[in-house]
Amino acid sequence: MRTCSFMLALALCALGCGDDSDEEVAEDMRAASGAGQAGDGDGDGDGDGDGDGLTFQDQVDAGGVLYGEHCAGCHGEAGEGTDIGPPVVGDGALPLDAPEGAGRDVQFMTALDVFVWASETMPGDDPGSLDDADMIQIFAFALFANGVELDVPLDADSAAEVVLNE
Ligand code: HEC
Repeated sequence: MRTCSFMLALALCALGCGDDSDEEVAEDMRAASGAGQAGDGDGDGDGDGDGDGLTFQDQVDAGGVLYGEHCAGCHGEAGEGTDIGPPVVGDGALPLDAPEGAGRDVQFMTALDVFVWASETMPGDDPGSLDDADMIQIFAFALFANGVELDVPLDADSAAEVVLNE
């Protein structure tokens, strides 16, 4: 249930929401970013932005393994793309508008836009099968591979700050 409402909140937010619901989404995503970690996962929202002890680099490391398991088959070991899936790393990856013939119907302006879309549609052969915490880590890995380095953990706040396309 929690996942459903989280997705719904993100989806609604993608359609353009006010500051209040932005805050809620940020809180949910922050909680998710720490979930599944030993003994913590309280999503305490204490404002120190430390993602419950997970650094961005921790997220990148864990995300690399998860990416290999769940995404590399279609998007390539290094995100370079395959015959099946488009590139998600490198010049020209994650363009503002979907590549010709693709099914995506949203624009990718920030990393949060990509996260919202991909959380519902990826992996392509089993959409929505990964929980939010895993998806956040995969995204940290993919952003890092694209040259993005954050000095805070990836969550809704920091993802919204990462502008991929103007
Ligand atoms: C079974 C193959 C398959 C798997 C596995 C898969 N994808 Fe995809 N992915 C696709 C296809 C096909 C598209 C193009 C979809 C479209 O736009 O209609 C796509 C598109 C994307 C895009 C948008 C690219 C763009 O420029 O529009 C992102 C981001 C993405 N996938 C992330 C992921 C992540 C993260 C995972 C792992 C959790 C994953 N995918 C696993 C097939 C796959």
